[in-house]
Amino acid sequence: MNTTFFHIPLSRRKLLHSLLLTTGGVLTSDLYAEALTLTPRATEGPYYPDHLPLDQDNDLTQITGGKAPAGGIVTEFGGRLLNADGKPLSNHVIELWQADVNGCYIHSRGVQKGKERDPQFQGYGKIETNAKGEYRFRTIKPGLYTGRTIHWHIAVKQGDKRFLTTQLFIAGVPQNDRDGILRGMGSEAQRLSVIREFKPRSAESQELVGTWDIVLGMTPEEPEQRRGGPGGPGGPPPRRRDSAAVSDQDIKDVLFGPAPF
Ligand SMILES: [Fe+2]
Repeated sequence: MNTTFFHIPLSRRKLLHSLLLTTGGVLTSDLYAEALTLTPRATEGPYYPDHLPLDQDNDLTQITGGKAPAGGIVTEFGGRLLNADGKPLSNHVIELWQADVNGCYIHSRGVQKGKERDPQFQGYGKIETNAKGEYRFRTIKPGLYTGRTIHWHIAVKQGDKRFLTTQLFIAGVPQNDRDGILRGMGSEAQRLSVIREFKPRSAESQELVGTWDIVLGMTPEEPEQRRGGPGGPGGPPPRRRDSAAVSDQDIKDVLFGPAPF
């Protein structure tokens, strides 16, 4: 391991105090290489609900007062919301919106040609992460619609700040390989982080279950990033000022820059 021990003037120690607390007094470039892979951004797409449903809970398969469960294969997924250092992030709202079994969204323009919206499907849900950063959704496997592979839309926010807009995919779906949005999502490691295995709950069950940890950079998202602008597919890279973006040069600047006195 590349290890650097500090021998620095007292005033510089003040500058580095918080940094040292997080590294146990030892800084290594390897430590930063071990930061978690940030979940990549993806375009919000055209179908974020323009009218939110009355029922917005994290079970999209059943609308309160509905006559029947939603059509489609019931699918559950959950995991933790983390920062790049692996610290759980509580009290963040995770939103989910997706196509129903017929490939239609709860959006005024979200009904695909020749299809009907499933009136029993909630279409949108949300949940606040708990003290351990955990979240969970019960929903259906999204329907396929022209030009895309199967996907869930996800956003993470706290108050009025949205930190991330992304999409989640199911491993083994043939259309994944030629989905332009998936192919444009960050590095290979980032793309792999949003393609998850879903397995039957049991030998007797048709329900699918998967896990997915979301790793958040700490810079709130710019509105254009939701629409495929900077940081979105085909756009320039996002401005990265989150914890995973600390470079060796940043460390040298702190250590060897002009003394403050
Ligand atoms: Fe979509």
